Amino acid sequence: MTQPAKQQPADSQLEAFRDIVRSRRSIRRFTDEAIPDAVVEDCLDLAMLAPNSSNLQPWSFYVVKSPELKEPLAHACLGQNAARTAPVLIAIVARTGTWREHSRQVLDNWPEPEVPKIVRSYYSKIAPIHYNQGPLGLYGVAKRAMGMVAGLRRPVPRWPYSPAAMKVWAAKSTALAAENLMLALRAHGYDSCPMEGFDSCRVNKLLNIPKDGEVIMILAAGRRAEKGIYGPQYRLDKSKVVTWR
Ligand SMILES: Cc1cc2nc3c(=O)[nH]c(=O)nc-3n(C[C@H](O)[C@H](O)[C@H](O)COP(=O)(O)O)c2cc1C
Repeated sequence: MTQPAKQQPADSQLEAFRDIVRSRRSIRRFTDEAIPDAVVEDCLDLAMLAPNSSNLQPWSFYVVKSPELKEPLAHACLGQNAARTAPVLIAIVARTGTWREHSRQVLDNWPEPEVPKIVRSYYSKIAPIHYNQGPLGLYGVAKRAMGMVAGLRRPVPRWPYSPAAMKVWAAKSTALAAENLMLALRAHGYDSCPMEGFDSCRVNKLLNIPKDGEVIMILAAGRRAEKGIYGPQYRLDKSKVVTWR
């Protein structure tokens, strides 16, 4: 955990990374080939290394490969080909209610003999103030109001101070884990299709998703089949979406 990051990746790593990113496509048809559990586990390990807000890791992953559950889950994914043909479906869930327990875990399992003072203070004092929105979101309303006053004179955090903002908060970090997961699958030679086209009521029920969980994507994963790509990859012109100031 504490190993220093290398300053400069070798050129060969850059090309390997480019190759992984460029060869990832959303695949809508998979072969029957299973993905070994060890590969899925490794990809999940890499997914969990995604950067995330306050290191509170507000995500859960539900790996579905048993036909008894996969079939109704694919049905709940509106019967999309990607879901129907994939040997594995992974529901990626953003959690708004795990931050307290995860704060405790960070302190209990800190990977050094001593938890630094600043870390202890953050997770025991600051995080509870910042992330607790209180009953009916009332603490959030108060925090927003206090922020508006204090913010007249200095920069202050103004977010995430409502239950809705907490959903966005959790979804941001969880989406980064989803991307790591897709790239990890690609690096292992497998493919994926992220899907938000699903019936969330049915999915929540099938997977028994906790109340604080939002399934942000269901990932279909497997080996890409012939004609698994439906069309060429298109992106907007960079000048439309990038501004340098
Ligand atoms: C949040 C999200 C939801 C998506 N939902 C679906 C989906 O339900 N069905 C599907 O076939 N593709 C889905 N996609 C895949 C996109 O259509 C795809 O990423 C986009 O067209 C770009 O193509 P590419 O991934 O091959 O580069 C989704 C992608 C994301 C990131």
